[in-house]
Amino acid sequence: MDQPATSNLIDAAIQVRDNAHAPYSQFQVGAAVLTASGEVFAGCNVENASYGLTICAERVAVGSAVAAGHKEIIAVAVATSGGHSPCGACRQVLSEFGPAMEVILIDADDPTQTRTTTLAALLPEQFTSSAL
Ligand code: THU
Repeated sequence: MDQPATSNLIDAAIQVRDNAHAPYSQFQVGAAVLTASGEVFAGCNVENASYGLTICAERVAVGSAVAAGHKEIIAVAVATSGGHSPCGACRQVLSEFGPAMEVILIDADDPTQTRTTTLAALLPEQFTSSAL
C-alpha cells in the first residue's frame, strides 16, 4: 500500500478513537478500513450498560463501509493504547470483506510505533463462504 493511503488510514483510526464510548472499560479503540476503491471508513468502540451489547471499533468501521456500498476492504488500521490486535470476533468479521487484508496496529500513546501484519497471519484457516 502506498504511503499517503497508509498515513490517511492511520490518522483516521487515531482521530476516531477520541469518539469512543468506553465509560466501562476506559479502553478506547479506533479503527479505519480502506476499501478497494480507496475510501476510508472509521469506527470506534461503543459500549453499553448491558456490557455484552458492546460493539468493537473494527465492526463499526466495517458496518460503515458496507452501509456505504463497499464490500472489498484491503486494509484496516486499529489504534489502541499499546497497539493491540483485533479480537477474534472482529478478525472473523473482517475476513468476510478481505481475507488477505493488511492490518496496521497503532500504539495511540506513540503513533510513530506501528506494526503491520495481515489478516491471514492473525486468522489462519479462515471460515469463509466457500465452505457453504
Ligand atoms: N474492543 C474493540 O473495540 N476491538 C477489539 O478488537 C477488542 C476490544 C473494545 C471492546 C470494549 O469496548 C473494549 O475494547 C474493552 O474490551
